[in-house]
Amino acid sequence: MSLISEIPPLLEKALTDLRAAADLATLDQSKGLWIGPAGQFTALMKQLGALGREERPAAGKAINAAKAQLEEALAARRAELELLAARPRHPTDFTLPGRRRPMGRLHPLTQVTDDIVRAFRKIGFVVADGPEIEDEFHCFDALNTPADHPARDSQDTFFLDRPVSGGQGDPALLRTHTSSVQIRVMKSQPPPVRIIAPGRVYRRDNADATHNPTFHQIEGLYVDRGVTVGDLKGTVEFVFKELMGSDVKVRFRPHYFSYTEPSFEIDFSSALVRKMGKNWLEIAGCGMVHPQVFENVGYDPEAWTGWAFGFGIERIAMIRYGIHDIRLFYENDLRFLNQF
Ligand code: DAH
Repeated sequence: MSLISEIPPLLEKALTDLRAAADLATLDQSKGLWIGPAGQFTALMKQLGALGREERPAAGKAINAAKAQLEEALAARRAELELLAARPRHPTDFTLPGRRRPMGRLHPLTQVTDDIVRAFRKIGFVVADGPEIEDEFHCFDALNTPADHPARDSQDTFFLDRPVSGGQGDPALLRTHTSSVQIRVMKSQPPPVRIIAPGRVYRRDNADATHNPTFHQIEGLYVDRGVTVGDLKGTVEFVFKELMGSDVKVRFRPHYFSYTEPSFEIDFSSALVRKMGKNWLEIAGCGMVHPQVFENVGYDPEAWTGWAFGFGIERIAMIRYGIHDIRLFYENDLRFLNQF
């Protein structure tokens, strides 16, 4: 039998063998058997030298072609087996419940803020925003609180060591209250105005159970024709009932703020307050917008009337949830936060 006629049946056998390899280790063994240094095709190659000159080229070509086919089959089977080996060992059970990720939730202060905003939205208020880095005009002067005014000392302000950008050398400061947003809104639009402005404020206080250098306020401003203290009381009562339940009582005490006249402090009473061992808790400042403030923003005080209020969001949250130390809000302790 000539060498060349041995090739096709041997190739058939080799291909069948390679294709049948059940795993990568078996495949490597087969490879050695056929085209490895001691393989059968390698052996054929070695016999070429014994052939006559005429036969040799054709036989060499045939062997090489067969080897090429074998390499191809080998690579194909290897790819198949590698894919199989990469499959998970156990079949996936798609009926099993998914892996649960721990769900985050909103910070209690955010929850309270959202509830306050929702209550005001029901009666037509929209949310306004203003910068935390402010200037003296928006934070004090336009609010009828001139530089020598005692309220300005007591508010212990953080000043930045640079002027306001775009200002005329005014020092930049961190806003001490959200009342600055009143000025920004009135300067930017004509009346009527019906806004609330929640946000962070800053004061040079030492932290203790009831103080923190940063805390949150929500400001309200209502400007229209013929607005009265009755509107203010009705609105405050509505919102607090929405927030804290229908047993809530609200009372107004005369007070002083430079941007409202008359001014009041709002006290608040509820079962929760009584649980804290008190009858009334002061909760907010408010009043009828001072005519000078209207002048300062270019509104005609003869034509327009309004009320404003501001209260601390932490304070509300503390009453609502019975929290005794304001610092808990800022510590990011999950044992605390998970309770809300
Ligand atoms: N800005 C005051 C504060 O920080 C709260 C306040 C009082 C806001 C009276 C007002 C207001 O708008 O009319 O204590």
